[in-house]
Amino acid sequence: MKTFQTIKELRAALKVNRLKDKTIALVPTMGNLHDGHMQLVRRAAKEADIVVTSIFVNPMQFSENEDLERYPKTLKEDQALLESNGCHYLFAPDALEMYPDGKRSQTQIEVSAISDILCGASRPGHFVGVATVVTKFFNIVQPDCAIFGAKDFQQLMVIKNMTRDLSSNITIIDEDIARAEDGLALSSRNGYLTEEERNVAPILYNTLLWAKNELQLGQKDLQEISEQAQKNLEQAGFKRDYFEIRSQVTLQTPEEDEAELVILAAAYLGKARLIDNIQINLTN
Ligand code: PAJ
Repeated sequence: MKTFQTIKELRAALKVNRLKDKTIALVPTMGNLHDGHMQLVRRAAKEADIVVTSIFVNPMQFSENEDLERYPKTLKEDQALLESNGCHYLFAPDALEMYPDGKRSQTQIEVSAISDILCGASRPGHFVGVATVVTKFFNIVQPDCAIFGAKDFQQLMVIKNMTRDLSSNITIIDEDIARAEDGLALSSRNGYLTEEERNVAPILYNTLLWAKNELQLGQKDLQEISEQAQKNLEQAGFKRDYFEIRSQVTLQTPEEDEAELVILAAAYLGKARLIDNIQINLTN
């Protein structure tokens, strides 16, 4: 595997491959890689001849009071993992390479309707930062496809809507959520948890499973389910952010009798903000 820090060098390497008619898959990440990320890399290797992974802790998607400075950086370990999972090129630029004039004067991509709800409401500007950096990676790499995880369900929808709205030719592929044995979704932010908090953390997934079961049993009062779930989480030691049952298609409140739903949750546990979700189809 080769590592590149500059757009110019990466483009030169990719050009050689494109001339040989090789297909290219991109896996954008912020590093501190775990098996959830590796699942995306392995999928990329199945979908295309050349796998490019990017590692960039994107300042544009963090607001002032968030964890940009302390976001874990583990480049050496990440390189070893990527190499053994079939990645060909790692693109690891610094902020100056990505935003030479600073992030404030940067052209922005805003995906309407779904960027300021749920995580976007708790993290203003977050999805503008995500959509902008992913657009830049798409333009730099010009991949045939790009792989994203369903762990960040709203992010996945932002990217899918963006490519559709901008008539992009890149196929967006999604991968299921990789979980620890106790159900906790793998995340770089799990590292912020103390041992005690780590034991409590799977309650987030268990609460999603409980809500799913309520829906399957025919409970129609979505507000009631969400409120009970929030209370359960608070009792376990979480601080509330949101717990919502939404349409899988629009991410808005579902129509009555809408069958394809997604239950999305975000909650604070100690220093970590954890997110998770479950998709559910009520016709099955
Ligand atoms: P990051 O949090 O590093 O995640 C990179 C990719 O890995 C995303 O597509 C995310 O959904 C996926 N992922 C993370 N944990 C996962 C898990 N447990 N199971 C399956 N997939 C998982 O998401 C970002 O970085 C950034 O916002 C980015 C898209 C790179 C833009 O900066």
